[in-house]
Amino acid sequence: GEAESLRASLLRWYDEHRRSLPWRAASGVDEAERAYAVWVSEVMLQQTRVAVVVDYYNRWMKRWPTLRRLASASQEEVNEMWAGLGYYRRARFLLEGAKCIVDKGEFPRTASALRRVPGIGNYTAGAIASIAFNEAAPVVDGNVVRVISRLKAISANPKETATVKRFWKLAGQLVDPLRPGDFNQAIMELGATLCSRTNPGCSSCPISKQCKALSLSKDTKSVEVTDF
Ligand code: ADE
Repeated sequence: GEAESLRASLLRWYDEHRRSLPWRAASGVDEAERAYAVWVSEVMLQQTRVAVVVDYYNRWMKRWPTLRRLASASQEEVNEMWAGLGYYRRARFLLEGAKCIVDKGEFPRTASALRRVPGIGNYTAGAIASIAFNEAAPVVDGNVVRVISRLKAISANPKETATVKRFWKLAGQLVDPLRPGDFNQAIMELGATLCSRTNPGCSSCPISKQCKALSLSKDTKSVEVTDF
């Protein structure tokens, strides 16, 4: 079907183009430790570019290589490590969440259980569940919204709750059931690179054949893709 071929094309592209990033190298290690690494990286990535995050991530993991070590840090130490990343609320949530998980005794393994940890919202829960625990849970960030809105030629106000819900539902239908973590990272990476806001590289896009916005813009003989 259509979803299957979209998944296959996107994953093939990701396998060829994925960037080698420190939190992606953690294969083979214990799942809960992987979950910790994914969590730290995804929280850092929420408002900060990949190139900046890499340095901060490496320093963080050197200082607190395990969840347990982080949970015993002080807020001052954590803030000091966070300095320059901004939005200190994120650092507070990481420490608070780490303490909560260590108290529980085990790392929650599903998106719905992860959402019960203070500071872990829908996005972070979906990222950890899919990347570390292989649950077919979706993630939706700005890049995912852009890719899906072009793919399906959806024009809607992204600030409305109903729109956000709609994108979570669509992302949930698209996510690859066998490689959900790779699929989620692939769609985010496509949005961050080729499917950029102003100058999309449709001619090299792995899913351009299925892209409604592209076919609509071709129909009207316009070379530009609608800026959703
Ligand atoms: N943006 C945020 N998290 C990401 C990830 N894991 N891969 C690619 N882009 C991302």
